[in-house]
Amino acid sequence: MERLDKFLSAGGAGTRSQVKELLKAGRVSVDGLPERDPGRKIDPQKNTVCLDGEILGGRRRVVLMLHKPAGYVTATEDARERTVMELLPPEYRHLDVKPVGRLDKETEGLLLFTNDGQLLHRLISPRQEVPKVYYARHEGWASREDVEAFAQGLQLRDGTRCLPALLEPLGPGESRITVREGKYHQVRRMMASRGMTVLYLQRQKEGGLELAELPLGKTRELSEAEIQTLERE
Ligand code: URA
Repeated sequence: MERLDKFLSAGGAGTRSQVKELLKAGRVSVDGLPERDPGRKIDPQKNTVCLDGEILGGRRRVVLMLHKPAGYVTATEDARERTVMELLPPEYRHLDVKPVGRLDKETEGLLLFTNDGQLLHRLISPRQEVPKVYYARHEGWASREDVEAFAQGLQLRDGTRCLPALLEPLGPGESRITVREGKYHQVRRMMASRGMTVLYLQRQKEGGLELAELPLGKTRELSEAEIQTLERE
């Protein structure tokens, strides 16, 4: 539950004092009835709030891209750790978005969120072999044999088999890795199986989407065209 004035303001209706004026002028309704009390408690998931008859913060579909920093767990709640949800701008918090897949606490990079349940389901389905591109700094230097082992499909130390993947050595202790699945700690475990401990990991791409210039810790909303590209993948 949250205050109506706060909800309106976070939803882009204006500053708190502008919102007060809108309320006073009778331009806001909650569940179809005019509401003038800025302190009225509303549940954005249950109540329909309109400004001049237009639904505000209704469950419009959004897909967000976050440049995740290290130190946050990919979860909607956690008793001890900071979660990626804390990094989302307030205007998205009431839209009920959830992370698409997972990045480890110490991994940085591209993480998507959506409130479209069907899209979420499709994107995390193991059948969706969407390529994901990672940049890693690691111990050692990836060799031609390592590249071949990745291409053939690695066997991890616990016996798990991986799909063929692309390992591109970029220099001493630096590689780009492209995988088409998302097992637990996948890239770290793949590199470890070849004796290279990962020291830093960043997801740069997921399918046709790229982190590009998005600054660390920042979020951007995908355009409808980008969402359609995702859906086609
Ligand atoms: N592989 C990993 O090891 N960690 C991630 O967060 C993502 C892929």
